[in-house]
Amino acid sequence: MPQPRVLSGVQPTGALHLGNWLGAIRNWVDLQDSHDTYVCVVDLHAITVPHDPAKLAADTRSTAALYLACGMDPKRCSIFVQSQIAAHSELCWLLNCVTPLTWLERMTQFKEKSVKQGDNVSVGLLNYPVLMAADILLYDADLVPVGEDQKQHLELARDIAQQRVNARFGSEKQPILNVPKPLILKEGARIMSLTDGRNKMSKSDPNESSRIALLDPPELITKKIKRAKTDSEHGLEFGNPERPETNNLLGLYSILSGQDRQSVASECAEMGWGQFKPLLAEATVAALKPIQILHKELMDNPKEVDLVLKAGRDRAAAVANATLNRVRQVLGLAIRA
Ligand code: AMP
Ligand code: TRP
Repeated sequence: MPQPRVLSGVQPTGALHLGNWLGAIRNWVDLQDSHDTYVCVVDLHAITVPHDPAKLAADTRSTAALYLACGMDPKRCSIFVQSQIAAHSELCWLLNCVTPLTWLERMTQFKEKSVKQGDNVSVGLLNYPVLMAADILLYDADLVPVGEDQKQHLELARDIAQQRVNARFGSEKQPILNVPKPLILKEGARIMSLTDGRNKMSKSDPNESSRIALLDPPELITKKIKRAKTDSEHGLEFGNPERPETNNLLGLYSILSGQDRQSVASECAEMGWGQFKPLLAEATVAALKPIQILHKELMDNPKEVDLVLKAGRDRAAAVANATLNRVRQVLGLAIRA
């Protein structure tokens, strides 16, 4: 039996933060032993909003190095850069031609991001979820480990595969594309902002204090946690909807210190913030330290990272091109000699 296939990716925009790690990358690390795992740095997604060309290439390599530093092992998975495999753009075009515009116009992330862009919304931003569907469908992925914010995009990828490709061009016996499932783990699926417990931690928040980047130095982590928004109630508890910041910070402490929620709840039940925040800062610094050390080693030796990306690209391209040819054929496009 072949192992089930996993595909996921993160955009190389700005610094990756605790949400990216705990919501996505950490889950990939666990899956690579039991699944045929492909992870990419989605640089084509990163240019759907205005970007700095001088930074993109460096951020792309640094993001790949973070995958490695977080525990992705090139012997057990394929790590590659999306734009290096032309099949992603090509399948995106083919899927664009069968995807209704109304499906894209109602995507929550598009609506939120386009408000931020004002008059400057690119067609690429609208198309973003179709490119993501192409990323996933090219690999016949069974599972896509992502944070909760990506659930709607996953549903779109499923609908495109099922309703617009398989139903129209395939048969029940011979589906053309595999229909993927999201894998959204409960813990860490939605890490909230440090400055507002009702909003998710995000790379695009202009306030840097709202997030902890995986490469933030210890003093900065401690400072950000010290300043994190709290409330004036005494005692810390999970699950009180009136206290979203408390819920978020306790949840982070549980994951980062490796203790289950129950023992954190009893440890912190009588604590005030002055006692809790240094504990959370210490747990965060300790959890990120090994990642930071490995990342620095890799960035001092960029050729090694580039070799990993090249090997990953070769493996991924073989799978992607086979799927692309299958789709080209059923759409009636001439076969390439
Ligand atoms: P992005 O930063 O948009 O490229 O997201 C990359 C991955 O991180 C996706 O799987 C997201 O769902 C996940 N992610 C981003 N922000 C958060 C967050 N605040 N909490 C949990 N997961 C997140
Ligand atoms: N849209 C995803 C995000 O912002 C990133 C992404 C692009 C992705 N292609 C993907 C995630 C394919 C999983 C699978 O988080």
